[in-house]
Amino acid sequence: MTRIVYVNGAYKRYAEAAIHAEDRGFQFADAVYEVIEVLGGRLVDATRHLARLNRSLSELGIPRPMSDQALQHVIGETIRRNRVTGGIVYIQVTRGAGPRDFTLPAPEILPTVVILARSQRRGWAATLAEKGIAVKTMPDNRWGRCDIKTVMLLPAVLAKDAARREGAREVWFIDSSGAITEGASSNAWIVTAQGTLVTRQLDSHILPGITRATVTDVARAERLKVEERPFTLDEAIKAREAFLTSATNTVMPVIAIDGHSIGEGRPGPVVQRLRSRFHHVAEISTV
Ligand code: PDD
Repeated sequence: MTRIVYVNGAYKRYAEAAIHAEDRGFQFADAVYEVIEVLGGRLVDATRHLARLNRSLSELGIPRPMSDQALQHVIGETIRRNRVTGGIVYIQVTRGAGPRDFTLPAPEILPTVVILARSQRRGWAATLAEKGIAVKTMPDNRWGRCDIKTVMLLPAVLAKDAARREGAREVWFIDSSGAITEGASSNAWIVTAQGTLVTRQLDSHILPGITRATVTDVARAERLKVEERPFTLDEAIKAREAFLTSATNTVMPVIAIDGHSIGEGRPGPVVQRLRSRFHHVAEISTV
């Protein structure tokens, strides 16, 4: 349960934590965010997550609200005040509050910072990973800068909801050329018949996933070949294994795509290996 939320320099009780009615994050989705896994009260891959947060802010011209060191401090404090040992921390930075106007405010206003820390039921992802999950494909109808982690998540929310209603836990978006881009909240991977890992190259159509980067490190350590290139639905259906990566799932086996079984229809050896090695390779830092 979330008890305490960090909002603009103060630790507020959950029910009392609030932002301004004219916050630009609320009115224009003029905001970015990060989700970081908390493991044993420590942060997983914090350096990479904070670097991506800074990149997202700079791409949108939102000033950094504080130094990385200060941010790590308030993240740590929020985790402790909520007694989170296993779970996630959510960091959102908006451009700030001001009279509603499409034009960006000048001079700059103070960014709004919200940090939430939440415990997750122990072992929920492990239980899911034992069986694997189904995904459903849909046309990618998001904007052209998916490399920025903005809170403009409505296409992902609606797509994921439609997938859930059809028994799939995640969406795999398909671009106009027929290639899979990524999941609604994860990166997409396949393992070819030759045992090569394939995931889309970093471009403006996908988020540069932090778990994706660390899984690439894991694969290198395991001497697995990784190809960064587009892959189609057809290639995915014929793949030996498929999986997705995100901070909330780490490595999650995908056993069906649009009702087609992948490989033997259960988590394969490559994905299981990547999942079991993930936290040995990821950066685990105290806060
Ligand atoms: N989502 N692609 C999209 C569109 C995402 O929203 C996410 C993460 C990822 C994976 O990125 P990472 O490995 O850094 O978590 C890829 C987070 C978890 C979320 O919105 O909850």
